[in-house]
Amino acid sequence: MQKNNPIKNKSLVLGITGGIAAYKAAELVRLLVKANIDVQVVMTQAACQFITPVTMQALSGKPVYIDMWDSSISNGMPHIELSRQADAILVAPASADFLAKLMQGRADDLLSTLCLARDCPLLVAPAMNKQMWENPATQRNVAQLQADGINLLGPDSGEQACGETGLGRMLEAEALLRLVNAHFTPKLLAGKSVLITAGATLEMIDPVRAITNLSSGKMGYAIAQVAADMGAIVTLVSGASALNAPDSVNTIKATSSDAMYKAVMGQVGNQDIFISVAAVADYRPSAPHAEKIKKSNASLTLALSPNKDILAEVASLPKAPFCVGFAAETEKLLDHAEAKRQAKKLPLMVANLVSDAMGDDDNTVTLLDKNGAHPLERAPKSVIAELLLKHVVSML
Ligand code: CTP
Repeated sequence: MQKNNPIKNKSLVLGITGGIAAYKAAELVRLLVKANIDVQVVMTQAACQFITPVTMQALSGKPVYIDMWDSSISNGMPHIELSRQADAILVAPASADFLAKLMQGRADDLLSTLCLARDCPLLVAPAMNKQMWENPATQRNVAQLQADGINLLGPDSGEQACGETGLGRMLEAEALLRLVNAHFTPKLLAGKSVLITAGATLEMIDPVRAITNLSSGKMGYAIAQVAADMGAIVTLVSGASALNAPDSVNTIKATSSDAMYKAVMGQVGNQDIFISVAAVADYRPSAPHAEKIKKSNASLTLALSPNKDILAEVASLPKAPFCVGFAAETEKLLDHAEAKRQAKKLPLMVANLVSDAMGDDDNTVTLLDKNGAHPLERAPKSVIAELLLKHVVSML
């Protein structure tokens, strides 16, 4: 069985500088630790005015470093020792003053010295008032930092602690976690185009009623996000789903099975990979009512017509992309899924039980290809997405 947690064993130095957004760093540490990233917190003296090292120590489970002359570092050189151990340094929040310092290559406290002495990537999440962000001096500094290869995460736009609204506030912890994950994800799909369907279809009976199913879209959206993190150009054709469109993905809404078919056929031309995760209705009402159906005491019969099988049609195209199907079953999982794989002529089918998958944040799947069954451990859908895409890459 393949292990989950592909980004396990990554280690990050999280630098916190003085700004009100330092309170968001507490939630960020919690999320990073939960994602199995090893976090070493380093704070500036100014950061300690906004949040205590005790909080950060409790959340990261490690002593927090602040002082250049910390005697607890064995070789007496924390700037070398800490940066050597890290896969990346993230400074969040990064104040205007800290960005200026970084730009100049100054090293007058532990965090700035660590950044100057690093041999790993540096990511910074600016956080400041909008006037400070817009100031030509900050803009000059940011342009130079980017030219120096430093990754800028944000800033975000919106309401600020000072009461103004504009660009400059730090990205939320969830968004930063996503970007850190993206940073640590190997770019295995660079240059590849990936088309994904996700969510449920809606087949209208009348203007207010529809035939649909319980698919949440979580699995397909997770695959779209991870494929983008792996460097692919991703197009997501989404049926009904309450989720927000993933970052860096071209999302097309198509709620009926017919609209989804047309959207997929319009996009499939130059795709390298097609992953059909959507729970597409097999039937639609033959004659949807133009007006709302009024109740009566007589029984009502709904005539249904079969829909096109989008995946089977794509797989039979003369220049078909590499096609992956999803089989959601209630019984005889592997038998049904393998029969579908062969019937639809797919190199790869993902088999999952309806009870394990639908609506849940986690999933338990088995990958089926010509070499047999590859069961994956139950894991968050983002982890399943990464393992699935790695399997696809190994088969390409
Ligand atoms: N699929 C599709 N278009 C359809 C039906 C299904 O593209 N009209 C795709 C799904 O996205 C999924 C795969 O086909 O990747 C398997 O779907 P499923 O509905 O389980 O297969 P069916 O062939 O419709 O079998 P069943 O009789 O179980 O409904």
